[in-house]
Amino acid sequence: MTMNPIKLLERYYNSNSKAFRILVEHGRQVADKARKAAENVSALKPDLEFIEAAAILHDIGIFLTNTPRFDCFGERPYICHGILGSELLKENGHSGLALVCERHVGVGISIEDIRRHHLPLPERDMIPVSIEEQIICYADKFFSKNGNGRPSEKSIPKIIGELNRYGSENVRRFESWVKKFEA
Ligand SMILES: [Fe+2]
Repeated sequence: MTMNPIKLLERYYNSNSKAFRILVEHGRQVADKARKAAENVSALKPDLEFIEAAAILHDIGIFLTNTPRFDCFGERPYICHGILGSELLKENGHSGLALVCERHVGVGISIEDIRRHHLPLPERDMIPVSIEEQIICYADKFFSKNGNGRPSEKSIPKIIGELNRYGSENVRRFESWVKKFEA
């Protein structure tokens, strides 16, 4: 894949904006963590170039959401940023990266959770499937976004504590990734 993820971000973000800085900084942190996870499953031959681009682009949809703390003043709720990013990347011909976008929110969102909680999302499973989708979703959970430099990496117990309120199935999915991606 020959594509420049930063160039693609710049189609939608002013490169001097706070939102752009947040995305790039967060993307780099996710990329570093994702690279380590990928090394630990090298036998599965994850596509490293794809992972690098996906780390930078997975949150591209945030500008369409109403999230002032990220300098984003769109109309949709934040939970929609995955599906919104997916639509943008599909329009740009990147259907594989689009799936990373829509499957990275939380630990992925099941169709049952979408129905049960009346989430403002299309009714389909949005759970990471490919090894690259799993790695980005996993790596993303270690870093919050705040626009003030590099937030420190969260501990696994802290992440599990945060996932607890979304139900045990979600915690179990994350724990299975811990086993898989931590050597
Ligand atoms: Fe995200």
